[in-house]
Amino acid sequence: MKNYYVLGIESTCDETSFAIIKNGKELVKMVTNSQMEFFKNYGGVVPELASRNHIKNIMYVYEELFENIDITIKDIDVIAVATEPGLKGSIIVGLTFAKTLSIIHNIKIIEVNHLHAHLLSAMFDNEYKFPIMALSVSGGHSNIVYFKNLYEFEIIGHTLDDSLGEAFDKVSMMLELGYPGGPYIENLALKGKNDLPMPNVQTSRYEFSYSGFKTFINQKYIIPKLASPEDIAASFQEHAFKHIVKKFDNAICDYDVNQLLVVGGVSANKVLQEKLKVLAKKHRKELIFPPLKLSTDNGAMVGLLGYYIENKK
Ligand code: KG4
Ligand code: ZN
Repeated sequence: MKNYYVLGIESTCDETSFAIIKNGKELVKMVTNSQMEFFKNYGGVVPELASRNHIKNIMYVYEELFENIDITIKDIDVIAVATEPGLKGSIIVGLTFAKTLSIIHNIKIIEVNHLHAHLLSAMFDNEYKFPIMALSVSGGHSNIVYFKNLYEFEIIGHTLDDSLGEAFDKVSMMLELGYPGGPYIENLALKGKNDLPMPNVQTSRYEFSYSGFKTFINQKYIIPKLASPEDIAASFQEHAFKHIVKKFDNAICDYDVNQLLVVGGVSANKVLQEKLKVLAKKHRKELIFPPLKLSTDNGAMVGLLGYYIENKK
């Protein structure tokens, strides 16, 4: 039987990523250019610059993808491109590239939702047993998602202000550690004590909020230099996770689900993973994660979603 190939394209934020998915399960190859290094000096993504960088990088990423493999663009059956939500200028670059390929090579193109694609990122290594309760935590978005089946999901909880990753990035910047902040805070926290009083943020059952934490930490500890960076990192991390894990716990209590899933860049954090393992044990649910390279934005999850949409029975 002929193989079925999907080309997945991701450009909704600061990663330009292309991947080829074979028969809806195998990741043949992925090439990702991340602008993380570029944005280190800015302390965060600058949308206008991100889209210009996509323009510079996209052709190289595409060419590298087809280097040294025996698949060519002529073998691609469908192009899937992530088009929402995200930075408009960045999305346009990926979409225009996809449309150009589609016209030149006469390949069908499908636009997919970036958040939906994240939900599929653990599917290469795990068998999904729906319904699933998912925690989707990155720099651009933080949501609790009731993932009903492959095609249907409902965002039942979200942040009222900053995303979880953004809170890590901002606290890291206030401590002058670096960008992206997550790994810096996680490492520094290993050397600190989690004993600084933190505000008790009140939000509804599945909602969360991080901008109050950030301001409190800055005014109470960082500006007056009243605590060590290590203790600030440890205390912030502990409270930031406790807050969101409580909301995730509420969602698991209220919905009947078979599995728990955590996706997005913050899912790389070991302390968060440990907290979620404890939670999963308490609820006797299986907890699944994507592999590290698929926890951040990538073309593979976009291609996989494209496959399922195109082959929906
Ligand atoms: O999914 P992602 O690569 O990009 C977005 O779509 O935003 O997530 C990046 C975010 C950044 O805010 C970064 O600080 C955070 O994920 N992050 C972490 C860790 N690694 C990355 N946050 C906490 N701990 C980590 N180890
Ligand atoms: Zn994302």
